[in-house]
Amino acid sequence: MSNFKITLPPSSKILDSEFTLGVATSSFQIEGAVSEDGRIPSIWDTFCEQPNKVKNGDTGNPACEHYKRWEEDLDLVKEMGFEAYRLSIAWPRVMDEKGQANQKGLDFYKKLLDRLQKLEIKSYVTLYHWDLPQYLEDRGGWLNRDLAFRFQDYADLVSRALGDSVYSFSTLNEPWCSAFLGYGYGVHAPGHSNIRYAKQSGHHLLLAHGLAMQVLSTNVPNCQNGIVLNMGPMSPKTHRYDDYIASKIAEAGGNHWFLEPILEGNYPHIVNRFEPNVEPLVLEHDLKIISHPVDYIGINYYTRNIGSYSKDKFLELSQNPDAEKTDMDWEIYPKGLTDLLIELNSQYDLPPLMITENGAATVDSLVDGKISDEQRCRYFDMHLKAVHEAIESGVDISGYFAWSLLDNFEWAEGYEKRFGLVFVDFETQERVLKNSAFAFQELLNLKHKNEN
Ligand code: FCB
Repeated sequence: MSNFKITLPPSSKILDSEFTLGVATSSFQIEGAVSEDGRIPSIWDTFCEQPNKVKNGDTGNPACEHYKRWEEDLDLVKEMGFEAYRLSIAWPRVMDEKGQANQKGLDFYKKLLDRLQKLEIKSYVTLYHWDLPQYLEDRGGWLNRDLAFRFQDYADLVSRALGDSVYSFSTLNEPWCSAFLGYGYGVHAPGHSNIRYAKQSGHHLLLAHGLAMQVLSTNVPNCQNGIVLNMGPMSPKTHRYDDYIASKIAEAGGNHWFLEPILEGNYPHIVNRFEPNVEPLVLEHDLKIISHPVDYIGINYYTRNIGSYSKDKFLELSQNPDAEKTDMDWEIYPKGLTDLLIELNSQYDLPPLMITENGAATVDSLVDGKISDEQRCRYFDMHLKAVHEAIESGVDISGYFAWSLLDNFEWAEGYEKRFGLVFVDFETQERVLKNSAFAFQELLNLKHKNEN
């Protein structure tokens, strides 16, 4: 068998028409054109300008020039046969500093979404994939409770202007990352390093989600409206009790801290054991707002972490030294996805789940017009099988999105890490389908035949 195939049992539900196979991107990572047509600066533009924050001093310009090349890029989504495309709206493109609509920015997304409808590709639109307008950060960013209400205004504006062309909205992408990587550990924009900030901004992000859900369910009740969370298992490094407890607490911090308030209207108790003296300020009705019903939960899964107890830091993260890793140095651990999905299903009364991101960075090179990304193909093959296993075990999963359509700006890693199904030559902006893109094309051909 070729190393470049993604195969599933013919009876797999993933091959049914009710299951959606898509591919994902986000605005800042691909669009470029950071000051065109009235776009205002975002926290990521500012962060990129600071020394030593992003590898090689890379910035969001020109990224993949998607703002200019969007039509060609959507044609690639169609060419591979994907049924859905997950993208995000850049808040700094569509709203000015007075909170008024920027029509040119909205027009860009309108024509893109209409083109997707013409191509019969479902649009999954994320409202916030980390590119906060800088002027809102200057007012305190996610530490300022008021931002949750500004986010509601933004969700209102976008859903009114574009809602007719959208299949599904998600409010936030990975609020854990915004809070912890951005406000707690300083590795993402806006670059604060304070655990109190992480917890408080995390709460405000969840509040923003709940407030946005209110307007989405009024403005676009026919859309599928939900949120996207990053999740993964944390395995203890040894059998020692303190390693076990530290990893379980950290795992709860990652997986349940954001999920439990949304689904059940309370914060998990175990989370209070993580930095117990730092509690976010939660006002009386917040959890009621946060637990507004959602149509689905999106899960982004890449890897697992190994945790051990440390006296100074509480938790030390490491990687399994024997495992195969991707170019991010992330362990390839598909079983973690099956286990996670089954565990969530046994623990919560879940709405349908979507895998909204899953993928691998590999070292790709163009040889004789081809990119032989064997590891990425295997990664997708193993993880789709892992999703299949979870479905077989009774978990309601309705879709899967590969990350990502294009090689793009991988946040603090800059352009060095390539996650695309499509190779981008950043000198010429030429796009070349990798072997993984052809593997998906073949799988999708089969799926479409199956459906007929
Ligand atoms: C996720 C982000 C996405 C991408 C992948 C690799 O955490 O949502 O934008 O960078 O990681």
